[in-house]
Amino acid sequence: MSGHGTPIPMISRPCGPLSGEAHVPGDKSISHRALILGAMAVGETKITGLLEGEDVLDTGKAMQAFGAQVINHGAGTWSVHGVGVGGFAEPDNVIDCGNSGTGVRLIMGAMATCPITVTFAGDASLNGRPMRRVTDPLALFGTRAVGREGGRLPMTLVGAADPVPVRYAVPVPSAQVKSAVLLAGLNAPGKTVVIEKEATRDHTERMLQGFGAILSVEETDEGRVITLDGQPELRPQTIIVPRDPSSAAFPVCAAIITPGSDVLVPNIGLNPTRAGLFTTLQEMGADLTFENMREEGGEPVADLRAKFSPDLRGIAVPPARAASMIDEYPVLSVVASFAKGITDMQGVKELRVKESDRIDAMAKGLRAAGVQVDEGPDWWRVTGLGHGNVPGGVTVASQLDHRIAMAFMVMGMATHKPMAVDDGSPIATSFPIFERLMGDLGADLLRDSL
Ligand code: S3P
Repeated sequence: MSGHGTPIPMISRPCGPLSGEAHVPGDKSISHRALILGAMAVGETKITGLLEGEDVLDTGKAMQAFGAQVINHGAGTWSVHGVGVGGFAEPDNVIDCGNSGTGVRLIMGAMATCPITVTFAGDASLNGRPMRRVTDPLALFGTRAVGREGGRLPMTLVGAADPVPVRYAVPVPSAQVKSAVLLAGLNAPGKTVVIEKEATRDHTERMLQGFGAILSVEETDEGRVITLDGQPELRPQTIIVPRDPSSAAFPVCAAIITPGSDVLVPNIGLNPTRAGLFTTLQEMGADLTFENMREEGGEPVADLRAKFSPDLRGIAVPPARAASMIDEYPVLSVVASFAKGITDMQGVKELRVKESDRIDAMAKGLRAAGVQVDEGPDWWRVTGLGHGNVPGGVTVASQLDHRIAMAFMVMGMATHKPMAVDDGSPIATSFPIFERLMGDLGADLLRDSL
């Protein structure tokens, strides 16, 4: 259920200490990329630890529609028999990407240089999100796109039959845009170059190299310059998906604000382009430690231990860190409510075009729960009340956004009165085991209205 079905009202009641181990699901970004690159390789790619959330399952269905075989062997183990770079067949039907901006934007890139025509659609949240940021650079390869007003889905892309390579400076900090251009560049002759001023998550670059593509990255005055040689033969891989730091954020933050808690979150991917939240929490005075640091499948991994932290203080989060924690601001703003003083978050206008306008969605809920929030187009500030002083007691609209729903469920664990969301169903897009996992740690979540 991802907002396509019946809404699921949910309540989180103040609870005792959270304790135990939280085995969160596989990384969403890496899972999408494993399925897509697996479909673009020749032969069988094996994946373990795949996130079996709706967003990723929708990408798996799309890869099947393009002619790849995607097989579920149970317990997070999957295989993909790919059709090779440029080998995508034209799907018989509309590609429904559900709630997933990553899914639709990466798949658009992957098909953009194949001579096929594809119509994309999504749920009400995805159909409201901007797609020109992807279709503009894809047009440089020769891809045509026709969508609704404002460059919105549903949208049809006509892939370039004779693609040319592209040099493109990404105007917004977006790993999805960067990745779409690189995936399109795979089937263009010559070298495709993508330049990003601010580093965003680099899973596509790492995985492309793993699949045997020739790709180099150079830090220059212009920014990060990524050069990809077109038309490689991608070699199938065995991919171990690390657990998602963006999902780990929820039990970690819950433990930090809930008195007496001590939670271990094992095997978390700590790619530096993703780990900004954990640095920020430590700067706020959170008791958060990294144990057993190691490397797995080309990604840094550690076990996180988070303990209740009664003396949190508000900080200014450096804007340069925004890209490395962009999905974590909703739950950070919850932690900020329990800190003393102001948490200032600047350079975050991308938050306004996620599954919801996340500044607006969080500000409305936090204010209703008794917390002062000030905001501008690309900044917001939370004035924390300190531990034990946050009232709560309200129902918040989750706006078809999984991270908004989970952030307010975390908040309700430590407010005076319970917190509720009108619809928790979007949680299944990225963290289908959220309720059970948090319940096993000691949270008091129920499917009901206040
Ligand atoms: C993602 C990139 C980010 C992030 C999203 C996943 C990815 O989006 O918010 O959840 O896997 O590439 P943007 O590229 O829009 O910043």
